[in-house]
Amino acid sequence: MISTAPDYRWPEAGSSRIPYWIYSDPAIYAREQERLFSGSSWNYIGFESEIPAPGDFKRTFVGERSVVAARDRDGHIHVFLNTCAHRGVQFCRHSHGNAKSFVCPYHQWVYDLKGNLVGVPFRKGVQGQGGMPEDFDLASHGLVKLKAETVNGAIFATFDQRMVPFRDYLGDSMYHYFTRVFDGRGIRVLGYARQIIPCNWKLMFENIKDPYHASLLHVFLVTFGLFRADQKSDVKLDPTGRHAVLVSRKGEQKATEGTAEMRSFKADYKLEDPRLLDPVKEFPDDATVVMQTLFPNVIVQQQSNTLATRQIIPRGPDRFELVWTYFAYTTDDEAMVRRRLRQANLMGPAGLVSVDDGEVLEFTQDGVKANPTMNGILEMGGRDRADTAHMVTEAAIRGFYDYYREVMGL
Ligand code: FES
Ligand SMILES: [Fe+2]
Repeated sequence: MISTAPDYRWPEAGSSRIPYWIYSDPAIYAREQERLFSGSSWNYIGFESEIPAPGDFKRTFVGERSVVAARDRDGHIHVFLNTCAHRGVQFCRHSHGNAKSFVCPYHQWVYDLKGNLVGVPFRKGVQGQGGMPEDFDLASHGLVKLKAETVNGAIFATFDQRMVPFRDYLGDSMYHYFTRVFDGRGIRVLGYARQIIPCNWKLMFENIKDPYHASLLHVFLVTFGLFRADQKSDVKLDPTGRHAVLVSRKGEQKATEGTAEMRSFKADYKLEDPRLLDPVKEFPDDATVVMQTLFPNVIVQQQSNTLATRQIIPRGPDRFELVWTYFAYTTDDEAMVRRRLRQANLMGPAGLVSVDDGEVLEFTQDGVKANPTMNGILEMGGRDRADTAHMVTEAAIRGFYDYYREVMGL
């Protein structure tokens, strides 16, 4: 009989195997929250332009922990834990807004836009009775503050106060791709989409590091030549393996030797409205698709002219929330904004491409959860994590697990 109780040892083959207990085990999930999301990592928070005015705030999450990003009177951005210092109430209940201060509903402690405690009702007692001790110091009971950095309009935060600068965290190659999209132009948010996908958060991160599936699973990508294994492409990782980019160039809608193995390829499919795909060149290089995974919680997407961040918010071992933020540049003309929005139909919870991923990730969770002692195989393109000039590889997933295992002690 085959046992179903994992022994929590990573398979000897290393990162070319993935033990399925990592996708559903509560203790592993708890360790991820502590060591990955609350550890030495820069977590995506949002855009400066989402909170343009003093008092503007955005509530979001770092791992499972709710945080608030707020702009103070001087225009500086602060990120702090959405957890009252008194008794732990998650005081901010709105995803966006404008506030002079934050007041906890329970006992109405007041925090300023920097997260400092500035008011405690009945602090001096009432009619000479009660109150806080004489030596109670407001300054030492503010909200937990994260270290924040803004990079060309994007906000990142970390619980590690000694964290290296964001640029060093990315490394040269990843920083190059990050600043390719976030090049200093103003960011205009076009809209949001949110979805709950019933699978472990890592499966999403892996999915965007997996060019192998892209040219097989996605009828739309393959048929219309948007992302295909027979096109010029690159897979690149940072030195630690935790971040990666998949880079591709659009090809023609035609059958090749390569499409013979792509069952999703439909040479005769035509779009009713070809404007759905009307890419125009806008970046200095010739890449038409660049998908970047920045550890631990964001994907930066450029697919033709659709631009978006996809933020990963874990919601327990078996589910996560994916928040899509579609954006344009403030310098775009209206035609370009329309184009970005039109092409965005490929992406999102019901996107012509992304809907496939949401479904297959659910199927994956069904399989791995029921079989925690089994292992996945990651041998496409070899067993290492070297950069490649093709996409017939799972190197970026192996790189992710090299780093993951190191931080998780697995
Ligand atoms: S729990 Fe927030 S003021 Fe008491
Ligand atoms: Fe996909």
